[in-house]
Amino acid sequence: MNLTTNLSPPLRGTLTLAGDKSISHRAILFAVLAEGESRVQNLLVSGVTQAMLDALTALAVPWQLTGSTLTVQGRGLYGWPTPAQPINCGNSATTIRLLAGALAACSVTAILDGSPGLRRRPMNRIVAPLQAMGVNISTPDGRAPLTLGPSQFPLKPLQYVLPVASAQVKSCLLLAGLAADGPVTLQEPGPSRDHTERMLPAMGVRVETAVLPDGTQRVTLHPPQLPLRPLHMTIPGDISAAAFLIVAALIVPGSEITLRGVMLNPTRTGLLEALQYMGAEIITSNISQMGGEPVGDLTIRANVLHGTEIGGNLVVRMIDEFPIFAVAAALAQGQTVVRDALELRHKESDRITALCQQLQAIGADVQERPDGFVINGRSHLHGGVVNPHGDHRLAMSLAVAGLRATHGVTVQNAEIMHESFPDFGAKLAALGAAV
Ligand code: S3P
Repeated sequence: MNLTTNLSPPLRGTLTLAGDKSISHRAILFAVLAEGESRVQNLLVSGVTQAMLDALTALAVPWQLTGSTLTVQGRGLYGWPTPAQPINCGNSATTIRLLAGALAACSVTAILDGSPGLRRRPMNRIVAPLQAMGVNISTPDGRAPLTLGPSQFPLKPLQYVLPVASAQVKSCLLLAGLAADGPVTLQEPGPSRDHTERMLPAMGVRVETAVLPDGTQRVTLHPPQLPLRPLHMTIPGDISAAAFLIVAALIVPGSEITLRGVMLNPTRTGLLEALQYMGAEIITSNISQMGGEPVGDLTIRANVLHGTEIGGNLVVRMIDEFPIFAVAAALAQGQTVVRDALELRHKESDRITALCQQLQAIGADVQERPDGFVINGRSHLHGGVVNPHGDHRLAMSLAVAGLRATHGVTVQNAEIMHESFPDFGAKLAALGAAV
C-alpha cells in the first residue's frame, strides 16, 4: 500500500489518541504475571502490541479484547506450560526483550523469534546480564532467535551498569529479578522511560529509584514475597503517536489543533522541549494523573521554527521521535545539529542513514554524522516517492513532510504504519490534511 500526502490547508480540530505503546506492552505482559483478572482500558491495538497478545496465546494465557479494553486471567510466576512452537514476536523488540525477562522469571523453556527486521536487532544487551543472573538463555550471533532453557532457581541478584540507556533492557532485567533471591540494582547513563518502575509498585512490588550525583539513574527491584496484584488501569494517550500530529500542526501554516489526554511522563517529553527550544507554541492544560502517569491536553499552533542543537540526556527522552523531529528541523529556519544519538542506528531501521537518505530524496538539506545528523532548514521540500525501510516511525514522518512538499510525498509499503499507529492516516485526514 502507498500513502500520499500533499500540501495542506491549515489543520484544525481536537483529537484523542489510543493508549501509549510502551505502557500497552507492559500492561499486557504484567497482567499475566499477576494472580487474578486484570482489566486494562484504552489499550493500543496495533501490530506490535498484537505480537505481545499472540505471545499470550502461545503461552495458553486466557485474554479477551473488547474494543480497546483488555481482560487477562493472570497466571502468576509459577506453573507455566512450555509453548509447542517458537514464539513469534513479529517486529517488536519490546515484546522479545520484555518477554525474555518475564519468561526467565517464570522458568519457561521457549524459543523467542521474530521478523527479519527483528532478527537484526542487538540481543546481547539482554542476554549477557540475564546469564549473569543464572538464566539459561542463548543466541546464535547476539540476535534473535533467543533460546530459554531450564535455569537453576532462584535466579541470582544482580548489580549491573547498562552501557546504553535502554528501557527495554532495564525492564527485561527487572522482570527477571522478580524470581531472584536478592535485589536487582541497575544503573544507566540516562533517563530511559520509567513505566516499568511506575507499574510494578502498583502491583505490590518494591522498586526504588534515584538520580545519582553524576546524573546517572539507579533503580533497585526487591523480589516480591507475595503474588503480584492484578492491574486495573486506563492507559493515557501515546505521546509518540501525538508527535506526528504535533509536528504536522507546527509545519502547516495557520494550523491549530488540540490533543486530549496525552501522556506527559518526563522521560518521554523530550520532543516537546526540543520543539519549544525551536520556538514552537505548545500549550499544556488540564494536567492530571492516569494509570500512574501525568497526562494533559496539548494545544499546538503553527509558527516559524528555528534550528537548535540536541545532545546528551535529551536524546534518551526523545529517542523514538528523531524521524519526526528531523522533519520539523528540515522546515525550520537555520541549522539543527543532533549528536550523541548513535543508538538510533539500532532501531527498526538504521534511523540515521535511512532518515537522512529519505529526507534528501524529498529535497531536505541533511548530512549524516556518525552519531546524528546536521540539517539546514528550507522553506519547502519538493517531495517524491520514499522507502520507509520497514520502519513505522520513518514512514509516518515522511508522510507528515508531504504536507509541506510542493509535489507531495508518496510513502511506499505504508502498511508498516499499523505497527504503532493504525489510524495515523485517518487522524491526519480528520484534521483536514491532504492524505
Ligand atoms: C521502549 C523502549 C525504547 C523505545 C521503544 C520502546 C519500551 O527502546 O525505542 O520504542 O517500551 O521500553 P530502547 O529501550 O531500546 O531504547
